[in-house]
Amino acid sequence: MTEPLILGIESSCDETGVGIVRGNTLLANEVASSVEQHVRFGGVVPEVASRAHLEAMVPALQRAVQKAGIDLSDLDGIGVTAGPGLMGALVVGLSSAKTLASYLNKPLYGVNHLAGHVAVDLLDHGDLPTPSIALLVSGGHTSLLLVEDMATSITEIGSTIDDAAGEAYDKVARVLGLPYPGGPVIDRAAAEGDPTAIRFPRGLTARHDMAEHRFDFSFSGLKTAVSRWVEARRRDGLDIPINDVAASFQEAVCDVLTAKAVDAAQHYGVTNMLIGGGVAANSRLRALLEERASAAGIELRRPRPGLCTDNGAMIAALTTQVVRAGGRPSSMDIGADSGLPVSTILV
Ligand code: KG4
Ligand code: ZN
Repeated sequence: MTEPLILGIESSCDETGVGIVRGNTLLANEVASSVEQHVRFGGVVPEVASRAHLEAMVPALQRAVQKAGIDLSDLDGIGVTAGPGLMGALVVGLSSAKTLASYLNKPLYGVNHLAGHVAVDLLDHGDLPTPSIALLVSGGHTSLLLVEDMATSITEIGSTIDDAAGEAYDKVARVLGLPYPGGPVIDRAAAEGDPTAIRFPRGLTARHDMAEHRFDFSFSGLKTAVSRWVEARRRDGLDIPINDVAASFQEAVCDVLTAKAVDAAQHYGVTNMLIGGGVAANSRLRALLEERASAAGIELRRPRPGLCTDNGAMIAALTTQVVRAGGRPSSMDIGADSGLPVSTILV
């Protein structure tokens, strides 16, 4: 039997993505970002993002189809992000997908954006060994997940109690006067800095936090510590060693993320791990997690950095798993759910 040919549409934040996959093979991944339009606001402006999706969707679709060299009539299904994300942004992708599905008379699958960040790795490394622990680190979410089946069973075993990891990167970048999005800029600055220059706090790692929050994260105290440190230097009329602050901040984030991910795998007796989400593109996170996972006898899978941030291929990859597992197509009147929990893989 030939593998299903699936098109995926993503529009939950500021990237308009259309991806096409056959099985676990990536055929096209067209992403149009509106990030430039948000830079001067220091964060994503929902109305601006929605309008940009409207303008970018059809051209992205055309480019993807051309790149993949397929005929739309050959598709076996259309996947689309149903949530979580920005309401107005999600609606653009959903209505595009519904229009396409009804015009082509193809099944529609409304799927979970966060599960998509996990599933994208299958395009690089093939079917996922289960169970796996997934460390999901994006701009809006930071969680540890127990993946027992990519299409049907994802359980959140811990998550952030305040800021997401990507959000912390974006906020710290702003404190340092660096542009949005902060993740890639801090990643580069940190490469030139000393990660041991300043000892920033590691949230929820103290012994008294471990009982209740062993697999949870907190980055808001870290963000405050960085801004206090920077303010104090400014007050004293001293230069800010941006590279050292970036490296020390990044070390605090990556230390906690990797320690808790490995602890979770050991606690659940799981020897496979993968990472996903925009922050999974981070060079230090990738290196430190590989080091710690391998020392603990855990097999780590890391999707290529270009597939970590939002894109349509991740939605197509997840939809492929859903189709293979015999998932029922979504109703044509499903709505967007900005708070869709990660355990709801298919809407
Ligand atoms: O997954 P994503 O593209 O969008 C959401 O679903 O939120 O993640 C975006 C986040 C932003 O906060 C961005 O700063 C962060 O991912 N990010 C990074 C890197 N590249 C993107 N954070 C750290 N290091 C990076 N190299
Ligand atoms: Zn995302």
